[in-house]
Amino acid sequence: MSHTILLLSGPNLNLLGDREPEVYGAGTLDDHVAAASAAAGRHGMAVEHHQSNEEGVLIDHIHRARGRCAAIVINPGAFTHYAWAIHDALAAFDGPVVELHLSNPNAREPWRHTSVVSPAATGTIAGFGAHGYELAVEAVARLLA
Ligand code: DQA
Repeated sequence: MSHTILLLSGPNLNLLGDREPEVYGAGTLDDHVAAASAAAGRHGMAVEHHQSNEEGVLIDHIHRARGRCAAIVINPGAFTHYAWAIHDALAAFDGPVVELHLSNPNAREPWRHTSVVSPAATGTIAGFGAHGYELAVEAVARLLA
């Protein structure tokens, strides 16, 4: 069985650390990937990470994970709220899918209250800031155990 967790980061997350730190924290995306990788390592797993500002690139990564990766953790950024094609790609993936957000979108503007990704996810972790990356990997490890 594969021990690879595909971690996907959507648009604008490459700016973490610099972008609205009062909302998203001071940590960079590299910091979060390192935390996820360390957590995965504790469970004998590895993280493969990709960030893109383009929906189609994220979809291609989801397709390539089919039959190859054990699970997907995805922070789709603003694609969360309208990218049905990401929903459909995730629905075609066989393993656990964790939707991850640094902030709690349900506590923010009304347009963030809808996630089109959630119906294709096993579960969602939101609002725990940087700690969410470790929590997401812990959830995956538990789901695969
Ligand atoms: C986000 C929440 C989204 O609403 C927003 O568009 C993002 C980041 C989060 O991690 O809190 O880009 O996914």
